[in-house]
Amino acid sequence: MSEARSVVERQVFVSLADYVRAEVESIVDEFAEFARTHLKSAERLSAVELRDTAAELLSHVADDMDSHQSETARSDKSRGDSPLNSPGLVGEAKSHAQDRLAARFTLNEMVSEYRALRANVVRRWRDAGVADPATAVEQVVRFNEAIDQALTESIEWYTSRRDESRELLSGVIAHDLRTPLGAIMMSAEYLVRSEELTGPETKAARRIVNSASTMAKMVSDLLDFTQVRMGGQLSISPAPISLHELLNDAIGELRAYHPEASIELDAQGELDGVWDRDRLRQVVTNLVGNAIGHGAADSPVTVRSARSGESVLLEVHNLGAPIASEHLSDIFDPLKRFARNSSNGRGHKGIGLGLFIVKAIVQAHGGSVKVVSSREEGTTFTVKLPTTAPTEKRDGNR
Ligand SMILES: Nc1ncnc2c1ncn2[C@@H]1O[C@H](COP(=O)(O)OP(=O)(O)O)[C@@H](O)[C@H]1O
Ligand SMILES: [Mg+2]
Repeated sequence: MSEARSVVERQVFVSLADYVRAEVESIVDEFAEFARTHLKSAERLSAVELRDTAAELLSHVADDMDSHQSETARSDKSRGDSPLNSPGLVGEAKSHAQDRLAARFTLNEMVSEYRALRANVVRRWRDAGVADPATAVEQVVRFNEAIDQALTESIEWYTSRRDESRELLSGVIAHDLRTPLGAIMMSAEYLVRSEELTGPETKAARRIVNSASTMAKMVSDLLDFTQVRMGGQLSISPAPISLHELLNDAIGELRAYHPEASIELDAQGELDGVWDRDRLRQVVTNLVGNAIGHGAADSPVTVRSARSGESVLLEVHNLGAPIASEHLSDIFDPLKRFARNSSNGRGHKGIGLGLFIVKAIVQAHGGSVKVVSSREEGTTFTVKLPTTAPTEKRDGNR
């Protein structure tokens, strides 16, 4: 303290950036001590790693504070839309996040580190008594801006990589589940056809076939979901087809599968287009399946299709409990629905990805899908599909 005071008496002020550079060793010592005692995941980093990564970050923060910064850049930065005027700091913040993710730090732990560093530096500088009172506040503001920018970059990098690796994992699992599931289905189908089984045994084998095909549907939905989340768009292979034929086929199959439901089909005029047949069939099956599963049991599901200029419209309608108006906006987004923990299901099979996939397929075709729902009018999903497929890849559902 006395040394610091003598510095002040001699009117030698030290800027916060210079202070950080000069004191980096003892700052990171204290920081490492904090991390060791407060952050469980810090165990996975050596003392040297903990200190080095913090020292690197601080040195970039100090450089950022020194670098020229106009008033506009500053207000941009405080709004979080920085023009990346300090690539060094940004790069460092990313690699910091990378180290922490690799060491399995939680997001909270990573944020705590930044908080500790910030508090540590500001307190020490103040206590050292070397701050120029005339510019001290300004310098702390600039220091906080640099730390905030680094923190924002680190969080962005951390969360996007973490989400990606989760999605990749579910994609890999879904992909690998298909083979054993296929074997289960084939074997159970073989048993169903076998003449040597008793009635109850055949019934059990049929249950295996049905459950396995439900699982296969979930697995394939999960794969589609992963494809869109990772790649931004579903891949499609469009070819000239007739929606008339496709509707007759798909609705015929749905009628056979749901003998209890009544499905009315009203397809008008010529409905040819260049589309991916299997994918469009998935759209029809998902929408009509929903209408059967979520709609009123005692009234029919109506499917209408007609041309509209250069597009074809496909409408699926049912009566019954409407979709709550506050949920209409995120009905196509399963993550939002999971987040608000909706009353999903009602004995309906699926993992809640159906509408997400419908939208992804329609968008991959350059089309759109919307929904209206009310107690009086029921629920209507309307798909609009251009009759010619898009020639170039569009950016999908991110
Ligand atoms: N035709 C419909 N009528 C009423 N509610 C519907 C209809 N279609 C979808 N929904 C609601 O939207 C939710 C999401 O549908 P979807 O993505 O297909 O998932 P899932 O059918 O597996 O629950 C459903 O759980 C249901 O609450
Ligand atoms: Mg569904």
